[in-house]
Amino acid sequence: MGATGKQPEWLDDAVFYEIYPQSFLDSNSDGIGDINGITQKLDYIKELGCNAIWINPCFTSPFGDAGYDVEDYYSVAPRYGTNEDLARLFAEAHQREMHVLLDLVPGHTAVTHKWFKESMKAQKNEYTDRYIWTDSVWEEPQGMGCIRGISDRDGACVVNFFSHQPALNYGYYEQKCPWQQSMDDEGPKATLEAMKDVMRFWLKMGCDGFRVDMAGSLVKNDPEGKGNILLWQNIRTFLNEEFPKAAMVSEWGEPDKSLQGGFHMDFLLHFGPSHYNDLFRCEEPFFSSRGKGDISAFVEKYRENYEKSERKGLICIPSGNHDMDRLARTIKGDELKIAFAFLLSMPGAPFIYYGDEIGMRYVEGLTSVEGGYNRTGSRSPMQWNDGLNAGFSTAAAEKLYIAQDSVADRPTVFAQMEDKNSLYHEIQKLIKIRRAHPALLNKGEIEFVYAKKDTYPFAYVRSSGDERILVVLNPSDKKVSFPYEGVLGENIYQFGRDVTGDGTTVNVDARTAAFITLN
Ligand code: NOJ
Repeated sequence: MGATGKQPEWLDDAVFYEIYPQSFLDSNSDGIGDINGITQKLDYIKELGCNAIWINPCFTSPFGDAGYDVEDYYSVAPRYGTNEDLARLFAEAHQREMHVLLDLVPGHTAVTHKWFKESMKAQKNEYTDRYIWTDSVWEEPQGMGCIRGISDRDGACVVNFFSHQPALNYGYYEQKCPWQQSMDDEGPKATLEAMKDVMRFWLKMGCDGFRVDMAGSLVKNDPEGKGNILLWQNIRTFLNEEFPKAAMVSEWGEPDKSLQGGFHMDFLLHFGPSHYNDLFRCEEPFFSSRGKGDISAFVEKYRENYEKSERKGLICIPSGNHDMDRLARTIKGDELKIAFAFLLSMPGAPFIYYGDEIGMRYVEGLTSVEGGYNRTGSRSPMQWNDGLNAGFSTAAAEKLYIAQDSVADRPTVFAQMEDKNSLYHEIQKLIKIRRAHPALLNKGEIEFVYAKKDTYPFAYVRSSGDERILVVLNPSDKKVSFPYEGVLGENIYQFGRDVTGDGTTVNVDARTAAFITLN
């Protein structure tokens, strides 16, 4: 498989917790979460069962896109603390046998980055080709947004996402205009080396790897991803030589490509053709008790990707993230528990978005904060307890980074820990069961047993060596059954009522999930 490095062993049983740093825990009462707040909560994360974290960008930034607009790749944003605080977080995590991924944003910077300020100058300098510029301010790059009219330099600069995020120049796979450089030109080569330096800096400090933002978007005019694969293979060679233990997880959504590029794992994304939204985020999600959803298109796509990525558990299915609606916006109560029985029994590393473990809600009607727009409602401060600001911060409520869910019965960690029937405890139990059974771990195989169009339940077998486990999920309000020839063994996980089999049929009660060993 291309240049893929050996997968770091810790990824085998990794369960990730994604932390949006501004909203997790404010340790210095300024209304915004910080690195020391994360360090304080490592034991909480570990107790839940997660042994790895991914932190959204925490670098110096004007925060026009919540930190995905980096101004300085080498410094922690002062509002989050210092580089020393982050180094301490790495060390504290390692003491607890936990691992930390930072968020690498290699595709673009903020307009305030010193590279961009230099690149905007009319005089040629070291950074002239660090970004993608057309030859004249009147020439807009076709099919892409651009920044123009703010520089002495005569040209328009291609952007990668929002119009304040200029695209770094890694070259064009197919060049169609004179200003489009090849991957082998000096400018693109220097950009790549600069990004390796960034990675080197944090890996030396103790970070365990990166979640990579928009990883398939760096080389332009590259419809089949060939240039981007080559670029990441180059980075893989560097990592193999200098940091063989570094873990790399891509936001790419095409595992066949990202894995060839040397990534260890890729994400299933909520956009593109994955049908991920059919599960939890559409009008009739599969995991709703209404029982009007469809799992078959998701499974078909998953299977395709699974085959393309050599049947390895390398596609990570997140519970949510900072870009999509909270899980609890569309599904609730038992539905959430059954959704987690799915998420925690699939191949690939599970990713739990902070607050999803207590069913935090999407906060409706918020004004956009730092480029969040409709994403803002999924980024509200963590709800720890019944104290001031739900224990997130001791600042005045109006100083909080984003307003909190103001509903009186908003879920909190404290209340969920007290209630042994809570979602929190269900997730904790599910992670323990996953860890105790190699078949359920990240690299265990999967065979889909029952995933019919517009039909419930959903069933699959996970296996590793001699161990085989049947997973049966019926979030619907109806009692259902499916044909299955085989003897059911022990129930190692059960939510809802008993699942029974008579050698030809398996019967599943309403709102039920079960993991059953097979001989
Ligand atoms: C994907 C990130 O997850 C998102 O939050 C960000 O706005 C864009 N990439 C641009 O970096």
